[in-house]
Amino acid sequence: MTPGRYQMYNNNSFKLGLFGANCSSGRAINTTPERWLADWASCSKMAKIADDGGIDFILPIGRWKGYGGPTNFQGSTFETVTWASGLLAQTKNITVFGTVHAPMFNPLVAAKQMVTADHIGDGRFALNIVVGWNGPEFDMFGAELRQHSDRYIYAEEWISAIKEMWRNPEAFDYDNKFLHMHNVVSEPKPFGGSHPFIMNAAASDVGRDFALRHCHGFFTSFREFDVQRAKGIVDGIKEQARNIGREMDVYTQGHIVCRPTRKEAEDYFHYFTTEAADFEAIDTILALKGVTPENTPDYAARRKAIPLMNIGYPIIGTPDDVAEKLGRIHGAGISGIAFSLVNFVTELPLLTQELLPRLERMGMRAPQAAMAS
Ligand SMILES: Cc1cc2nc3c(=O)[nH]c(=O)nc-3n(C[C@H](O)[C@H](O)[C@H](O)COP(=O)(O)O)c2cc1C
Repeated sequence: MTPGRYQMYNNNSFKLGLFGANCSSGRAINTTPERWLADWASCSKMAKIADDGGIDFILPIGRWKGYGGPTNFQGSTFETVTWASGLLAQTKNITVFGTVHAPMFNPLVAAKQMVTADHIGDGRFALNIVVGWNGPEFDMFGAELRQHSDRYIYAEEWISAIKEMWRNPEAFDYDNKFLHMHNVVSEPKPFGGSHPFIMNAAASDVGRDFALRHCHGFFTSFREFDVQRAKGIVDGIKEQARNIGREMDVYTQGHIVCRPTRKEAEDYFHYFTTEAADFEAIDTILALKGVTPENTPDYAARRKAIPLMNIGYPIIGTPDDVAEKLGRIHGAGISGIAFSLVNFVTELPLLTQELLPRLERMGMRAPQAAMAS
């Protein structure tokens, strides 16, 4: 691997990424007037601020259908590989992921789309594999939502075939349980003779084991963050990887509200997760999980919890507070965080200007000047 060719292998021991900006409302189920609309002009502006400011990666959500309500939460979404291609064309350093549903994308098309994005970005495309779980999305595709373990058997075949297309200069057959591909050729190969950083987003042990065998990163959630507990989990994953001769980075996700004062940050967090939450969309999310007012005595409490659960680990406060919390995540051995903001354009400058220098001083990130040289 050429050092520095991929931002995911740069000298920042803790990587920062923007999560969910291809979807309307991002990850915050909110009705605020300033909520993220995910229009192209805003996405493009966000990528430029992030790239110039030293953010490491941009990670979209694979989402095909919104959740209704007055905002139709995540109802307007850019397809992620084409979105990544556009952003890569406009940036210089930042890695941009595609979040690709293995069961929805024909592997030959996906392999070539991703190579195209990788060449546009001079090797800065990365892949986040998702196996999917959302029934109505599968219905739109006319695709089968397989049994849980079969989803990963399919994904295993899908990524193995893609890696072969990225590697093999000769025509080959790939014949397995689900995929039957004959005389496959695929040129060009990914940019620069190696292949994109691959991550798998999952919470289950089966998903983790799939990541261990096939990916460079495991993207998962740590709720109620407890450094000691998380450290044990992360160490265990890394050891399991080493036992099969591989290295594994663990990434997590969260939401940042950073303001000059703690009170401002806490008040805003409270506002968009309570009075400004889109509760009709929340009802849809709960219904998808089979939770309804009829079958759930504590429905009102479940409803209130969703805006918080959906954004993952909350990181709320002043630049010092945010830096301290990220320091604890880093201390657990986690390689980076993909975080969302309510508005990725208006909220990002405070982070690049105030948070990043603090993380540098804490030794979690290389000095900006050194990164540029
Ligand atoms: C951190 C994280 C991010 C995810 N991102 C997406 C996504 O963007 N789109 C999607 O359809 N599913 C997403 N998923 C869902 C997974 O792809 C998977 O379907 C789900 O976690 C169930 O599989 P599991 O039981 O192995 O975790 C995500 C899961 C996690 C843990």
